[in-house]
Amino acid sequence: MSGKVTILEIQGMKARGERIVMLTAYDYPSAMIADACGIDMILVGDSVGTVIQGVSTTLPVTMEQMLYHTELVARARKRAMVVFDMPFMSYQESLEQARHNAGLAVKVAGAEAVKLEGGANMAPVIEAIAGIDIPVVAHIGLTPQSIHRMGGYKVQGKGKDQGRKLLADARAVERAGAFCLVMECIPAPLAREITAALKIPTIGIGCGPHCSGQVLVWHDILGVYPGRKMTMVKKYADLHAVISDAVSAYAKEVREGSFPGPEHCFGPAPAKPEEKKKASRKK
Ligand code: KIV
Repeated sequence: MSGKVTILEIQGMKARGERIVMLTAYDYPSAMIADACGIDMILVGDSVGTVIQGVSTTLPVTMEQMLYHTELVARARKRAMVVFDMPFMSYQESLEQARHNAGLAVKVAGAEAVKLEGGANMAPVIEAIAGIDIPVVAHIGLTPQSIHRMGGYKVQGKGKDQGRKLLADARAVERAGAFCLVMECIPAPLAREITAALKIPTIGIGCGPHCSGQVLVWHDILGVYPGRKMTMVKKYADLHAVISDAVSAYAKEVREGSFPGPEHCFGPAPAKPEEKKKASRKK
């Protein structure tokens, strides 16, 4: 594993045929683990809404919330590149607004790149942000901020016309200056064609094995939510079960009086709760 991940490193990885690993994180301990495990790019995704805040779409997530979470992540980062996901309506109003908010992501929160959703329609925004030397990751295919236009979370780019449109979108964001492209939920053959057509690396989620890299959500690979089953996700752990067992064991031990034990106390060992009860009954 090489040193600090920069945009040169990310571009070089595609050229060398090395796969890029991106994972989301939203706080200090998860970013610390991701960085230490060699994750190349940590995405502070606006998925924070659905996996941390308990809302059903990413639309309510605010700039303030994203800045806060990115700050926590950036504090833990040593090697990985930290990417700030621009939330809904933080870049759509004007180029000034987009530049201003991308600037805050870097200046206030410590991100090294920003990601935004959209294809050819967002090319001027990408150009504006890249034009002030902030690296931009584009995002096409299933773009969750467009849920109402898409009519649900559905695979995009099915059929020739839609496929051609996505390829044109990919070319447009590359021309506009994006250094990397996230593609979400598009058929694997189309993802392969787009990856081959671009110089910049592609990072897939639900796009098959032929992208330059892969991204998944922290809570999904770790199985934090038992009900979240998605074709594109592989669950590498069952943290829901592990955490539930630990929390239940803690509650049980507190109730039965076996925690805290003498080894968890300061000063002379106190009497156990049952002994205290017995002693008070004797009086
Ligand atoms: O917000 C997010 O986590 C994302 C990834 C799924 C690409 O945009």
